Amino acid sequence: MLSLRLIPLAVLFCVGACRPTLPAATTADADRAAQTWPGTTVADLEHGRQIYLERCSSCHQPVAPAKVAPANWPGHIAEMKTRAHLSEEQAQLVKRYVVTMSRAHAEGRAAPQPQASR
Ligand code: HEC
Repeated sequence: MLSLRLIPLAVLFCVGACRPTLPAATTADADRAAQTWPGTTVADLEHGRQIYLERCSSCHQPVAPAKVAPANWPGHIAEMKTRAHLSEEQAQLVKRYVVTMSRAHAEGRAAPQPQASR
């Protein structure tokens, strides 16, 4: 059954190429975010991720948070906010998400990742 054996390959390819993969926020990420924006929750970060997926994918694939240094994200958000017609609040949520995840990447994610609570 050649076709069956090809399915895992197709799935693997699709995970990488068909859908943008944006990391889910964890409680560790929320703790990290709260150091800069007190009171930030996992739900806030996940909301930011959702807006990013829905509103920033029409012109280009969403740029992975880790691809841009934390300090460079706010400038991109400020520019892209008008292109994506985001409200101030939506832009803020997207910014918190990408900056936090980029920081997590920069710090190497030493600790094991807990499951994202929803
Ligand atoms: C209306 C189309 C459009 C939308 C919507 C859009 N972008 Fe962009 N984006 C672009 C274009 C075009 C570029 C190419 C560089 C430039 O013009 O600045 C770009 C570039 C970028 C870059 C720089 C990539 C690099 O490698 O330098 C980032 C980061 C980015 N966009 C993030 C976002 C985010 C976050 C959102 C949602 C808030 C978003 N974009 C929504 C059109 C768009």
